[in-house]
Amino acid sequence: MKFFIDTANLDQIKEAQELGILDGVTTNPSLMAKEGITGKENILKHYVDICNIVEGDVSAEVNAVDFEGMVKEGEELAALHEQIVVKLPMIKDGVKAAKYFADKGIKTNVTLVFSVGQALLAAKAGATYVSPFIGRLDDISADGLSLIEEIRQVYDNYGFDTEILAASVRHTMHIVDCAKIGADVMTGPLSAITGLLKHPLTDAGLAQFIADFEKGNK
Ligand code: G3P
Repeated sequence: MKFFIDTANLDQIKEAQELGILDGVTTNPSLMAKEGITGKENILKHYVDICNIVEGDVSAEVNAVDFEGMVKEGEELAALHEQIVVKLPMIKDGVKAAKYFADKGIKTNVTLVFSVGQALLAAKAGATYVSPFIGRLDDISADGLSLIEEIRQVYDNYGFDTEILAASVRHTMHIVDCAKIGADVMTGPLSAITGLLKHPLTDAGLAQFIADFEKGNK
């Protein structure tokens, strides 16, 4: 399972990278705005900064919602760095753009996916990644993890290459459950990733080992 971090915060990206478990980064316009990154030049530079920290794929989202605009913006983003994956919204023109980029060998991430039907269209268009938002489904009392399970089944039925990127991951158990289901990738906040480290028996066991070592080596 690949681990992506879902943030535009460079310190958090560095911290995850230094842990040695990071496979990539996802961003979106809201995450860029949260870091105060505004204006085209600053946004493009920030994507390059992220690419220079991590070794894997970095999703950069288009802001256009029409086919021509997505192609223009996506080509500009893809030209920034070889690690850039063009992130496209799951709308009609987004599907058309995913096919356009697939034909050109440019990686895409189709985002804002909330149904199996949408995921099927993304795979048919040749998307590299499909991003079902599990946390936002949970927020409205729907079952985000069931969606991952259903997409896994459909993709496996037909051998689609599109990777299931479980997005809108909010906590540690989302990651564990996605791993059990067989999501190819998860993207979440640093807190969810580092949450995987925690177990009280690890802390208690380590405290005991340290105490016993110190007793015997006074
Ligand atoms: O990658 C999609 C993700 O950023 C959405 O997360 O927490 O805003 O639902 P969230």
